[in-house]
Amino acid sequence: MDYQLVPFYFDSPLLIAAVKVYTHVWTYRLFGESVEFFQSNALRPDFYGYVIQAAGQTVGMGFGTKSEPGQWWHNKVAEKVGSQHPALQNAWVLVELAILPKYRDRGLGLRVQNALLDAQPYPNALLSTQTDNEGARRFYERHGWTYLHPGFAFFDGHPAFCIMHKHLPEKVT
Ligand SMILES: CC(C)(COP(=O)(O)OP(=O)(O)OC[C@H]1O[C@@H](n2cnc3c(N)ncnc32)[C@H](O)[C@@H]1OP(=O)(O)O)[C@@H](O)C(=O)NCCC(=O)NCCS
Repeated sequence: MDYQLVPFYFDSPLLIAAVKVYTHVWTYRLFGESVEFFQSNALRPDFYGYVIQAAGQTVGMGFGTKSEPGQWWHNKVAEKVGSQHPALQNAWVLVELAILPKYRDRGLGLRVQNALLDAQPYPNALLSTQTDNEGARRFYERHGWTYLHPGFAFFDGHPAFCIMHKHLPEKVT
């Protein structure tokens, strides 16, 4: 089967298609608030988002933005590792990456990840994933991500997330 990577933006119908993948994969996420979440990210600096399509159907998606002081996620990570940590300088965060279950294990997650990392301009890429998400952790470990923090809860009583980092030396600051 042929797959096409297509960028999406704030006001693109593909943003809605990306949200549908997201709410399918994370069933506890509500559609309306997820649209707001995607749109608020799409307005941030250095937003890049891609969907991956098969025969016109959107089967996966990913997006991220610049990661900088003042952003909630960035500040939480900075509290744990120090705001001057080299990994947090000139950094971009891969906010979401998801492939529909029946399309996994055929290299699509890697294609979306690579397209996003190629498009964004920064030498440090960051992400968080639940510490018990072993499949995602293995995927990222295989593709050169290392642990910046082994895991903490962003909210009291919520699950722990590990923070991962990938250095991209080919990106000039
Ligand atoms: C994590 C996730 C995005 C990976 O997507 P994917 O499309 O399955 O990723 P890939 O196919 O590129 O790689 C997955 C596995 O398939 C294997 N693979 C890659 N290309 C392949 C191919 N052409 N044929 C068969 N297997 C292949 C890889 O070796 C990899 O193995 P691993 O799991 O042991 O590392 C996907 O599992 C997902 O959406 N999970 C739920 C959401 C999530 O957890 N997101 C990340 C949290 S932030």
